[in-house]
Formats: sequence, C-alpha cells, structure tokens
Amino acid sequence: SEPDVTALRELARHLALEAGALVRGGRPDRVEVAGTKSSDVDPVTAMDRASEDLLRRRLAVQRPEDAVLGEEGGGTPGTSGLTWVLDPIDGTVNYLYGVSSWAVSVAVVAGEPDPASWTVLAGAVHSVVDGVTWSAGRGQGADRDGTAIQVRRAASLATCLVGTGFGYAAERREQQARVLVEVLPRVRDVRRLGSAAIDLCLVGDGSLDLYYERGLNPWDMAAGGLVAAEAGARVSGLHGAPATVDMTVAGTPERQAELVALLESTGADAAVR
Ligand code: IPD
Repeated sequence: SEPDVTALRELARHLALEAGALVRGGRPDRVEVAGTKSSDVDPVTAMDRASEDLLRRRLAVQRPEDAVLGEEGGGTPGTSGLTWVLDPIDGTVNYLYGVSSWAVSVAVVAGEPDPASWTVLAGAVHSVVDGVTWSAGRGQGADRDGTAIQVRRAASLATCLVGTGFGYAAERREQQARVLVEVLPRVRDVRRLGSAAIDLCLVGDGSLDLYYERGLNPWDMAAGGLVAAEAGARVSGLHGAPATVDMTVAGTPERQAELVALLESTGADAAVR
C-alpha cells in the first residue's frame, strides 16, 4: 500500500520534538570541553546515544516493519522498504559549547538509504534551543512551525547569503578553505552556523539564499534536504549528480545553478590528498 506521507511527516515531527526535549534536559550547564569525543562516556556521546535510543524505541513500537539508519547505531534492517534516517544531535560542537544551533533530524526514505538514489518521503528538523521546527512531506510542501515556507529569490549571486560547513579532517578543510577563497568575494557573505540540517531548512524558509557543503552524511541531509526542496529549492551535487556525500548544493534554482558552476570551476569535488 502507498505510504501515508501526512502520517509519516507528523510522526517525524513528533519524534524530533520528543528527542529534542530529552537532549536539552540532559545537557549539563557547563559541558567539559576538553576530552569530549575522547571516550564513550563523554556527555555528548552519551546524549547522542540517549536521543537515538529514544527514537529507535518509539519506531520499534510504531513502525516495526521499517528499517532504521542512525548516526550512532548504524543500520537496522526492516521489511517495508522504508528507512528512518536519524541524526540524534546535528551540530554536536554547538551543543557542546552551548551555541544554540543544534537540532534533531528525523526523516523517512523509500529505497536504499543512500542519498544517490533514495526518495525522501517526509522529514522534520527540530532546532531545540530556538524552539523552531521545520517539516516537509513529499509533494506537500514544507513548513516552519506550521506556516508554509518558500525559498528567497535573490537577484544575483552577489546578493546571496551563503551557508556552508566544514568536515573534521585537516586535508578536507584545506580544500574547503581553497574553495571558500573563490566563493567569499562573489557573494553577499558566508555563514558557518554548525548544523547542516538547520542550514538546509534555512534555505527553505529564506533565511539563507544558498548552502553548500562537501562530506555530509545521509542523516545530516535527509530531512533538511526535503524541507529545502519542498520549499522550492533545487538540491543537487555537481556535474548533474544528485546531492551526496561528494557535494550538496541547495538554493533557489537560478542562483543554485550559478553556485554549482562556480564550485565546479574551483574543483570543489576534486579528490583530496
Ligand atoms: C555536522 C554538522 C556540521 C557539518 C558537518 C556535520 P554533527 O554534523 O552538520 O554543520 O559541517 O559536516 O558532520 O557531527 O554535528 O552531527
């Protein structure tokens, strides 16, 4: 039977809100910055796990036939052909430091849980500290806290506010810095807000004109990519490819095409040493 996109979207939204409340409540006033990510018991890792565990427990009851792919727990097979793609805390570094841009991202996809070929059916991104939730359903449009959203229509690349992000490896960052040298002089300004899921939603609601990043994981882009697309953005990779780990570029179609061309000219997707 055809999946009920409205019900899936509502469940995604509900789950993102519930996990967000858990994670926010579990954040110590002053997270010990030094030594985090160094062990399995650091507070960020623990809250990532707790959030994903909650999402998995709810899904096991409400959607027992669906598969799950999560940042922390990896893949759990299902029989329905649908997969829930979970990022229990997107923007972990912000969460760690107490910067407000971090989110829980929940999406459900049909087909292989691979951005190169999947069909995202529904998704929600809950920016917990800001108390903002975006959601989208395939063919239904996208909303921010219940109000329909649309991309902003910038007149030229030069007037675009562009979001981006950087990977964690030094070689990747050197290349991303070289690309940024070409992009920054050609646009209004650049933002590095620290959560890819939120960045994509901000393209959807017109708070950013464009966003690009290399190296995103499926859970970083699943829900936010649908929100952007359903709000009228084009979301793709370079050289006619879909958005994947190699490159994700989102924005109003005309400006997105210009940014894609610029990124292609800089070799933004070239192999990293
Ligand atoms: C990261 C954030 C960040 C982006 C990184 C992602 P995480 O996700 O989305 O903005 O630049 O590429 O890995 O590690 O906080 O879940």
